[in-house]
Amino acid sequence: MRSLINYIIPAVAGISLLSCSKNDSDAFIDDLMSRMTLEEKIGQLNLPVGGDIQSGVVLGPQLDSLILEGSIGGFFNVKGVEEISRLQHLAVEKGPHGIPLLVGADVVHGYETIFPIPLALSCSWDSVAVERMAHISAIEATADGVNWNFSPMVDICRDPRWGRIAEGSGEDPYLGSILAKAYVRGYQGDNMKSDSTLMACVKHFALYGATEGGRDYNTVDMSKERMFNYYLPPFQATVDAGVGSLMSSFNLINGQHATAAKWLLNDVLRDDWEFQGLIATDYNSIPEVSTMGTSAMEDAAANALNAGTDMDMVSGLYVKTLADAVKRGLVKEKTIDDACRRVLEAKQKLGLFDDPYKYCNEERAKGDIFTPAHRDMAREIAAQTFVLMKNDNNILPLKKRGRIALIGPLADAANNMCGCWSMLAKTENHESLLTAFRNAVGNEAEILYAKGSNVYYDETTQKNATGLRRIEHTGDDAGLHAEALLVAAQSDVIVAAIGESSDMSGESASRTEITIPDTQRDLLKKLVNTGKPVVLLLFTGRPLVLDWESENVTSILNVWFGGSEAGDAIADVVFGGKSPQGKLTTTFPRSVGQVPLYYNHLMSSHPDPQEGVFNRYCSNYIDCSNEPLYPFGYGLSYTTFEYGKPQLSSTTLERDGTVTLSVEIKNTGDYDGVEIVQMYLRDPVAQIARPVKELKDFRRVYIPKGGKKRVEFTIDAEKLKYYNADLEYVYDPGEFRVMVGPDSENLQTLTFTAK
Ligand code: BGC
Repeated sequence: MRSLINYIIPAVAGISLLSCSKNDSDAFIDDLMSRMTLEEKIGQLNLPVGGDIQSGVVLGPQLDSLILEGSIGGFFNVKGVEEISRLQHLAVEKGPHGIPLLVGADVVHGYETIFPIPLALSCSWDSVAVERMAHISAIEATADGVNWNFSPMVDICRDPRWGRIAEGSGEDPYLGSILAKAYVRGYQGDNMKSDSTLMACVKHFALYGATEGGRDYNTVDMSKERMFNYYLPPFQATVDAGVGSLMSSFNLINGQHATAAKWLLNDVLRDDWEFQGLIATDYNSIPEVSTMGTSAMEDAAANALNAGTDMDMVSGLYVKTLADAVKRGLVKEKTIDDACRRVLEAKQKLGLFDDPYKYCNEERAKGDIFTPAHRDMAREIAAQTFVLMKNDNNILPLKKRGRIALIGPLADAANNMCGCWSMLAKTENHESLLTAFRNAVGNEAEILYAKGSNVYYDETTQKNATGLRRIEHTGDDAGLHAEALLVAAQSDVIVAAIGESSDMSGESASRTEITIPDTQRDLLKKLVNTGKPVVLLLFTGRPLVLDWESENVTSILNVWFGGSEAGDAIADVVFGGKSPQGKLTTTFPRSVGQVPLYYNHLMSSHPDPQEGVFNRYCSNYIDCSNEPLYPFGYGLSYTTFEYGKPQLSSTTLERDGTVTLSVEIKNTGDYDGVEIVQMYLRDPVAQIARPVKELKDFRRVYIPKGGKKRVEFTIDAEKLKYYNADLEYVYDPGEFRVMVGPDSENLQTLTFTAK
């Protein structure tokens, strides 16, 4: 038996370490609150929606009267510095006590300069790129009056049926945590006092990505071990990075609504993690605590507040019921005071009491939004996020010569390149892929175009799928296919720009068949049947099942939804100006029946000994292999990399020591390139079963063609730790396996012993 070393963290359900009560030193807030009535304090906790930008039913009230009554602490979804400035002036000049307002928005992957969707951004594995995109988002949003951003979304997701997988960083907690911190740094800067940074709001706390069946707003049932080891780390990372606020989630967790889960909001988040910031609900969540059967409607607000929720987004139930709840003895005034204090503290951290109009500079709005510099950065970052999944005969990059057929409903859809959170963008200013291709080739080649198909055969399904960023259903698909084949016949190579449309992922966009939609898939088959090389430019907000495509198409470049500059960025990569460098952060299954399918799974009791051959009484399927189609960490380049034999500095890791793993990588192809070198660990015997592998470190290295680089990883005890059944953060001395390679399947393994 191995001896056990425990590094015990304060138990989750334990006693509060830090009091969240008022900060006595803050004389300003003390003084202000001493002059506020109970109703005015409750007013600070109210966060109505101001405009009609997405998110279900708009319950938008009259902001002006709420401001004058003092029954509002902030609002969200109002676009434009002039209107925001007017409302801020009203609050400061005419509202009780002149308290400035929080102004929220969902600036999730850009404001008007739109960057790739977060899932795509994560495929860059580049925290610097993520921080830059967040910084630019903050500059643009603050220039237009916003001071509070409902981002980052750090929900780990293992189920591509869930449309909101597009909004997060994929399935891995280690990479997810690194990127989560980068978002916060980019939005908030060193502190929030600058005019061009804002307060981040990490969401959705918690476990929303594990919603049952991949169906939105649904239930979650999960062990504490799974939560703490896989789903919560990115949230804790943002708390460590000083995130100013947090949004709770829509789902039940083990039968309790996240919005009223005291163990989560108070005990874990505030007490154990020492989160000092503001907690807001998600859109209209408080009455949903009752809808989901965990509270009477009249008590829902009291339950949410008592659990630790400070601000009520949209429902207005705090304002309607909390004063009465105090009279009924359901809520203590002190709890309302604490929540109000946290709202005022957030305003203070933003510098709003010093200068309430610091985000109301109309000159900035004219000069700082959708600038050439921001767009250049978006273009550069977008190119980093594309994942080359297949490239037979090195068909990519395409030569700029002859006739190139660009075919598909996404080829000339400038309004459809941005992805899920882009309703603040002005898509009329964006360029389509067709225009970008024509600009890229100039006179050197001819780009022929055909729409090729609708998104779906069925007009109503297409309407449901395309939502805000509509692609019109035109003509009949047989005719569109035929037209495309005529164009294909005249060309040397076919580029098919197809897949999901922008609104098929994101909120409330779950799917059961995660394939390329019907008519587009049929079109693709017909294009492949021409015998000409076919490059599939795959637009998607989630992993799709590409079994047929992976067998039959010459090349697949997954371009996700690349933002406002996607057209140029795709052209940069397709024509070889840049080599693809993205690697998947979410597993692509062979069949939707394999879902949930993720690389860091536990070992089954009957592992399959012979992959590809059906073995009865093994943990497998009769009709499909266990393996993914494209695994986590996977992605090709135009060049090739060769890994040398990895070496360990020692095969023993002393308790306070380190071991170094090093490996040499050569660029053996014809292009300069970036390789993402990945290191995984496995603990084969532990107190609770540990995954077959877990990402523990990675490096992005640029290696010019013909060059080589030695990459080193330092392993210490911290990398071996996990939460055991008592939620102690421990490691178990003994043998460990360390693996290194270009993706989660293609790995070389060494072993060492941890003391
Ligand atoms: C979404 C949140 C978003 C909020 C405000 C909700 O429907 O779940 O992610 O921040 O709306 O727009």
